[in-house]
Amino acid sequence: MVVILLGPPGVGKGTQAARLADAEGWEHVSTGDLLRAARRDGTDLGKKAQAFMDAGELVPDSLILDLVRDHLKGVAPEAGILFDGFPRTTAQAEGLGGVLGQVHRRVDAVVVFEAPDETLVQRLSGRRSCPDCGAVYNVHQNPPAKEGICDRCGGTLVHRADDKPETVRHRLEVYQELTAPLIAWYEKAQARLVRVPADRPVDDVQAAFRAAVR
Ligand code: AP5
Repeated sequence: MVVILLGPPGVGKGTQAARLADAEGWEHVSTGDLLRAARRDGTDLGKKAQAFMDAGELVPDSLILDLVRDHLKGVAPEAGILFDGFPRTTAQAEGLGGVLGQVHRRVDAVVVFEAPDETLVQRLSGRRSCPDCGAVYNVHQNPPAKEGICDRCGGTLVHRADDKPETVRHRLEVYQELTAPLIAWYEKAQARLVRVPADRPVDDVQAAFRAAVR
């Protein structure tokens, strides 16, 4: 099964994808997480991506496609794959189609999470992330047991630089301009596309997500 999870910043893609991928033993491919790991490791890609990410702009398609191609080399050909935050442009969707075609696979389902902008801005203002293990918390909805410390690995939690309100607003504009058109693109390509209201408790969204990919 190859599933794409689309949706604006803060809608809960990472939270839900991690849960579903863990439960199903699927490969969770988050280009945001891969880019943040590259930045932490100080790789060339990480250095090139840094300014785009901090400004809330998309990283250029060619860098993202190389990153995904490279990552997929380490994934078993028959593994379930859940793409989170990728593709984000038509060029990336076309590139993904090519990569999957080479191994005789295709996109089986596209799930679109939806929530009002006010919810997204509020969630991102309260998000705290662990740069060491990738765990995600929310100071309002899902705080860690000890303020500022990751429950899972003891790392120091951070408020991502791109979660500042003005950068979040820009990321929402970029989503509407470059990524939201992929919904119509996949509908035209006759992919199975399911919209999931994501302005609900985490467990309810997870249940709807599971139903969408069943
Ligand atoms: P990326 O890391 O992919 O960010 P994003 O898509 O903007 O999504 P977020 O991580 O902000 O949010 P999310 O939907 O995963 O929500 P989360 O589960 O954390 O990308 C960052 C940057 O990298 C981009 O701006 C770009 O520069 C670059 N990039 C990445 N991929 C790229 C690509 N393909 N092409 C080009 N550039 C790329 O939840 C948010 C908060 O809400 C958390 O605090 C969580 O605890 C809380 N929450 C989640 N669900 C619920 C719920 N149901 N109820 C209440 N709270 C909830």
